Amino acid sequence: MKGIILAGGSGTRLYPLTRVTSKQLLPVYDKPMIYYPLAVLMLGGIREILIISTPQDLPNFKALLGDGSWLGLSFSYMEQPRPEGIAQAFVIGKDFIGGDPVCLILGDNLFHGNNLSGILKNAFAANTGGVVFGYRVQDPKRYGVVEFDENGNVIGIEEKPQLPKSNYAVAGLYIYTNEVVEIASHLTPSHRGELEITDVNREYLRRKRLRVKILGRGFAWLDMGTHESMQQAASYVQSVQNRQGVKIACIEEIAYRLGYIGGQDLRDIASDMKNNDYGQYLYEISQIKRTEIAKWF
Ligand code: DAU
Repeated sequence: MKGIILAGGSGTRLYPLTRVTSKQLLPVYDKPMIYYPLAVLMLGGIREILIISTPQDLPNFKALLGDGSWLGLSFSYMEQPRPEGIAQAFVIGKDFIGGDPVCLILGDNLFHGNNLSGILKNAFAANTGGVVFGYRVQDPKRYGVVEFDENGNVIGIEEKPQLPKSNYAVAGLYIYTNEVVEIASHLTPSHRGELEITDVNREYLRRKRLRVKILGRGFAWLDMGTHESMQQAASYVQSVQNRQGVKIACIEEIAYRLGYIGGQDLRDIASDMKNNDYGQYLYEISQIKRTEIAKWF
């Protein structure tokens, strides 16, 4: 399974914050936004990850994350010259994906909840088409929205409908068989000039091979595309972390727990952050056995 993080876009909704930097590099409490989607792919056991962003921003992602070897991962980078749609990720990433299945996550999406790792691994193992995640929201008009029949079967998905047929939004995390490369290559731009991810999902639905897994109320799914939602995500992370004393989306900790890096690696990473809470956390984690940390997840 290959992973893709889509971290481009024009970012105008967050101006002036994003005039000179990428939205997905902005802080969300104590870490850059991209750590949150990256942690999700890692929890799914994915180690080969493509990061797609704009030509201006890509060098900063490379500076932050490097080739991934420091986390026991492999990162590739590719440019999306213009924000021509989420599904363009599969056109840009064609060679990276090769003959493998792929999991795409949007760079501004935060997922947090019990057994995320198990949910993802089960979805990967059982997948024979597409798997998307439905989540109940108050304002479905802003999202891809799922339509169900009276037996709860999915019968349609609409992008940003004026009259949503349910309150279930499609979250920005998509799992597909390798066919997605072919499906994406045949898409035509929508009225807003984008290759729509919803059209990919509709095609899997037409082929009767789309599954919608519902993430229940015990789960948090937040997008961080506006000033308000970024602030809400930061408050959420701060509250949960301070209460539990365990960090959300700490990619270094996840790499350690999964056995990709050792305790000394973690201390090396922490060495230039000794004076802050993040570095101290990594240092403390490095002294705890992996098996102990595993009990926290
Ligand atoms: O967050 C989930 C929603 O994401 C889904 O429910 C919708 O079906 C899906 O279309 C998408 O809606 P958004 O309105 O949130 O999409 P947006 O254009 O804001 O793009 C989401 C992220 O992807 C954003 O961080 C920027 C990035 N992006 C977007 C496009 C269109 C790119 O990197 N390149 C692009 O071409």
